[in-house]
Amino acid sequence: MDRLDVTEIFEGISFPGHLHTLESLQFAISFPFQDQDILIVSYPKSGTTWVQEMVTLICSRGDPSLTQSVPNWARAPWLEHYYCASVLGAASFKLTPVILHYSRRVIIYVSRNPKDVVVSFYHFHKMANFLPEAETFEEFLKKFLMGTLSYGSWFDHVKGWTCQTATLENLLHLTYEEMSLDLHGAIKKVSSFLQHPLLEEEVNNCVQHCSFSSMKNNNMVNYTLVSDHIMDHSKGCFMRKGKTGDWKNLFTEEQNHYFNDFFKSNMQDCALDFVWEV
Ligand code: A3P
Repeated sequence: MDRLDVTEIFEGISFPGHLHTLESLQFAISFPFQDQDILIVSYPKSGTTWVQEMVTLICSRGDPSLTQSVPNWARAPWLEHYYCASVLGAASFKLTPVILHYSRRVIIYVSRNPKDVVVSFYHFHKMANFLPEAETFEEFLKKFLMGTLSYGSWFDHVKGWTCQTATLENLLHLTYEEMSLDLHGAIKKVSSFLQHPLLEEEVNNCVQHCSFSSMKNNNMVNYTLVSDHIMDHSKGCFMRKGKTGDWKNLFTEEQNHYFNDFFKSNMQDCALDFVWEV
């Protein structure tokens, strides 16, 4: 199948041109946010879809009617997509509207350990026809570390949204690993941050409906509604493994050493701890 990998360069970051245009990216950074907006921000493959599902379920008090009848991109749209929206997805911190940094709108920043991010992103490149063809993992890993993949540098994104925003009271930093380790606790944390307290039974319903198996089987969130022309489902699943530590199945020992050294020197100004395996 022909790939749709036209690239749009915006502020030095490459975006897939099939999904983002200069107009849509410009629109995103000048978006007039409203007080009730909830923004989910992440680098790709960090658990964005999971949090979209979680937030919808929290706002619906655990009732899955909406998550089972409306596609996730319609309930929690990507602001920088050409069709626009009210949720900010994979934009880097420097691209976000200045007004957001001083507003009352709440922001949920989602991060994941970068070894699992790069592995998930690599597999996603094989099925996502709007991204450049995935080459060898060795090449892909180099580009990830250099920040030259689509959506830019993981390091700039994570450091921008965590270290430089440490004083923002309206920002909650949530990690993929904490959701994996304690989904119930993560849902309570997010519902309390959103000032949307839930009854225990409602939390349990949210847990059930945003488990990996429920989401993998829900056509409204597993991306099977997207045509093969855009995501080739014969080459993989969006809901692939949903595990922490899968990087161990792809990284060589040498790649792991190189990654660790690179990570250490590039994250020395940012005291973030990641869970690398469970
Ligand atoms: P894997 O490719 O490692 O399986 P994003 O939504 O930011 O693109 O992230 C996609 C990753 O989140 C994929 O990781 C996907 O399987 C995982 N994911 C989505 N929903 C999940 C869930 N309920 N539990 C665990 N992982 C989930």
